Amino acid sequence: MKAKLTINKDFKVGQIDKRLYGSFIEHLGRAVYHGIYEPSHPTADDMGFRKDVLDMVKQLNVPIVRYPGGNFVSGYRWEDGIGPKEKRPRRAELAWRVIETNEVGIGEFQEWAKRANSQVMQAVNLGTRGPEDARNLLEYCNFPKGTYYSDLRRSHGFEEPFNIKVWCLGNEMDGPWQLGAKTAEEYGRIACETAKIMRQLDPTIELVACGSSHLNMPTFGKWEATVLEHTYDYIDYISLHNYYGNHDNDTKSYLACSLDMDKFIKSVIAICDYVKAVKHSDKTINLSFDEWNVWFHSNEADKKLEPWQIAPHQLEDIYTFEDALVVGCLLITLLKNCDRVKIACLAQLVNVIAPIMTENGGSVWAQTIFYPFMHASNYGRGVALTPVVSCDSYSTEKVKDVPYIETIAVMNEDKKELTVFAVNRSLKEDIELEIDLRDFKNAKLIEHIVLENDDMKATNTAENPLNVAPHNNGITKMGSDCAVATLNKHSWNVIRFQ
Ligand code: AHR
Repeated sequence: MKAKLTINKDFKVGQIDKRLYGSFIEHLGRAVYHGIYEPSHPTADDMGFRKDVLDMVKQLNVPIVRYPGGNFVSGYRWEDGIGPKEKRPRRAELAWRVIETNEVGIGEFQEWAKRANSQVMQAVNLGTRGPEDARNLLEYCNFPKGTYYSDLRRSHGFEEPFNIKVWCLGNEMDGPWQLGAKTAEEYGRIACETAKIMRQLDPTIELVACGSSHLNMPTFGKWEATVLEHTYDYIDYISLHNYYGNHDNDTKSYLACSLDMDKFIKSVIAICDYVKAVKHSDKTINLSFDEWNVWFHSNEADKKLEPWQIAPHQLEDIYTFEDALVVGCLLITLLKNCDRVKIACLAQLVNVIAPIMTENGGSVWAQTIFYPFMHASNYGRGVALTPVVSCDSYSTEKVKDVPYIETIAVMNEDKKELTVFAVNRSLKEDIELEIDLRDFKNAKLIEHIVLENDDMKATNTAENPLNVAPHNNGITKMGSDCAVATLNKHSWNVIRFQ
């Protein structure tokens, strides 16, 4: 099969906000305890953080990490996680029905993020708590000194304010499973008032209001419109969450789920702009896709979990090779919408539906999905170019007109590099992709990285951590004004030019 990608330096989707490569750590399962934090581990640093995990996180080059939830935040008392560790209470954590020891709280996580070369995206509890607690937490984190909460922070050994810039106004407040779930009216009002109070204390912060928990929520659309009608002038982003899975073992349809993500993004943009029009506003609300990933492998195991354990194996999806292709398609979809999606968080980062896995007290390894994320985060910085693609498409019972190729090019003007990301969705055929380089005279191939495997269900494990791993022997031939890349059947490709 043959296909063509035409790009032009002047046809830009937009500048890619580096926060498109964000991620998420929730107090859930083994994300924090035995994930990022394990004081008894041989690689633990002075604060108990696992250095082997930090090294892997740094490879992913994650600029922002959402914290501390997720569903967890809707029942969280942030004060439980500050001050001397021996005095911190243990709590019955209701969102995930476990025991939370509070050994890690906002101060420790802020320090972990620094060590990971990242920033914190902090969520406040608008489930069981409200504006007053959000204000106090903001004062603890961002106020320099001379007030009750800022001086409390200083007394805990954090002299300098954390200066957390991005704040989520609750989490999935439309979801009946959420502690303190709300109607759109109820949430819109409390989010608006919380935003006003928080901005009064620190006008430099950016705020994210909760959109729908996923595209198929019965209240989707109306929820966004109502919330935005209340909050429009006080917030900067509306959130999107969505998880994907191959529930019916129908790989051809599964590989097309990024089309669903695209539809979700475009629908939310339309709603934001509808409210903008109705309000005669000059302000544009952007999107924070702050939970996205594949999540379905662990569903059955999690139903059998005994409650009230500490850091159980929870939401531990072991990802297959085909999941990595899906994550690649989802990353390309985010890039295709980077003019409006400014923040996105791969949910999550360690152990819980995560690219990085650990053994308690033992090794760390990269799941299959680690690789497309690492490639996109490291090489997908700069300007996303509008992809004009001509290629064949296929249909299944569930989804129509799926292009065989998902692709985008990113131009990094600082490094003078051009990178083409491409997934070949065909399960049977290689595709010759002609990349039009007329606008990139004298481009030279740096490398063509490929992630491929004969077995769509191949996984990485602690015993066999490199079973699915990329190589850079992909075949790309340079022609005059073009390059022709061979995209092997069902493969993720990163073609780098200088
Ligand atoms: O990421 C796992 C969970 O998924 C989060 O806690 C919640 O926000 C979402 O439903």
